[in-house]
Amino acid sequence: MTSMQHPTDTPQNISLDEFWMPFTANRQFKARPRLLESAEGMFYTDVEGRQILDGTSGLWCCNAGHGRREIAEAVSKQIGRMDFAPSFQMGHPLPFQLAERLVDIAPKGLNRVFFTNSGSESVDTALKVALAYQRARGQGTRTRLIGRELGYHGVGFGGMSVGGMVNNRKAYSVQLPGVDHLPHTLDIERNAFSRGLPKQGAELAEPLERLVALHGAENIAAVIVEPMSGSAGVILPPQGYLKRLREITAKHDILLIFDEVITGFGRVGEPFAAQRWDVTPDIMTTAKGLTNGAIPMGAVFVSEQIQDAFMEGPEPLIELFHGYTYSGHPVAAAAALATLDIYARDGLLTRARELEIYWQEALHSLKDLHHVIDIRNTGLVGAVHLASRDGAPGARGYEVFEACFWDGLMVRCSGDIIAMAPPLITEKTHVDRIIETLGNVIRRTH
Ligand SMILES: Cc1ncc(COP(=O)(O)O)c(C=O)c1O
Repeated sequence: MTSMQHPTDTPQNISLDEFWMPFTANRQFKARPRLLESAEGMFYTDVEGRQILDGTSGLWCCNAGHGRREIAEAVSKQIGRMDFAPSFQMGHPLPFQLAERLVDIAPKGLNRVFFTNSGSESVDTALKVALAYQRARGQGTRTRLIGRELGYHGVGFGGMSVGGMVNNRKAYSVQLPGVDHLPHTLDIERNAFSRGLPKQGAELAEPLERLVALHGAENIAAVIVEPMSGSAGVILPPQGYLKRLREITAKHDILLIFDEVITGFGRVGEPFAAQRWDVTPDIMTTAKGLTNGAIPMGAVFVSEQIQDAFMEGPEPLIELFHGYTYSGHPVAAAAALATLDIYARDGLLTRARELEIYWQEALHSLKDLHHVIDIRNTGLVGAVHLASRDGAPGARGYEVFEACFWDGLMVRCSGDIIAMAPPLITEKTHVDRIIETLGNVIRRTH
């Protein structure tokens, strides 16, 4: 049994064997575990009492920082009042209230909300709504879905199929049929060390025209992209690229889905990336920051016009045969409402904009360190891209990630890319500490 002493509370010895950890090198982790125990503000505390600055908002989700009492109180109050109520053929006020609040901050026109429990479920919901919408409006031949290389849309079969991160796909032989991928937009040769959106690459949207020419627009249901790819290592849309995707999809009457699971709720300086980059999709997926990570919940936004297409048949008929036991869960909805209150009160949904230049210049100060081949940033998100070691892709990135942790900083590594997205309550002193720790670690990494 792999076990460790638990210093503060019972049980004294916990076994590390039984929990099969997600997206983790289990054997490596269990040989030297990184176990977090509490969190407050910008910091985690691990089981040995060490403070770790949260450079990643947990997993891109704790946008308002940790230990928010208002969320804890809302959750505990709601559990006491009503722990659960179904949303199938029944209702309770909270998800209605929440949907209304969400529409207030959403891109104009996205005024209908479907609740899920995660980003993966939001993506699968969006893809299913897109397919069902095409049938509902009499365009049932539109079944093909188009994603993008290096895209990450969660781990459901739908999200995996339209996603483009090879390790997430290759072990699973079954993918959705009829899926194509646009080229990714990472172009270090032309765009290295861009500040904000890179200048080169709007033409990377043009292959969509080729896919339309290949398959016929009448066979394509939707295109799904992250406005900014987070998980693959902060890959930004080139200037003009998203607008071009919007033009091409509109021209061919293809739905455009933005997966804003990471970019949503203030990460790039507006409530949603669609607003920051002034491109409105037809469907938008969210999760993570919706509840500040405190309780699992996702939300899919669609236009009224899309929902209306389903409202044609006899009224006693269920219009969309889709949903989750926990869609609109009262406790999650209470957490989300409390989170939205904090975002509004503290101005967090636009705070990244205020810190953006400071964050950008701090990040780019690492430019001349050895191994650094690119630095990318927007809002309060950024990445330092390291050269891979010969024959060992990902090894250097992992070492940097691990060393940062033991030096008191949580970052993420995606291969040899170090990604950061600190909570939106970050102060300049935290930025300085992130850059100092990461810089020192890179300096001593061979
Ligand atoms: C863009 C995007 N979509 C979907 C997901 C999946 O979310 P979840 O892990 O909540 O299923 C993620 C998670 O990182 C994501 O970044």
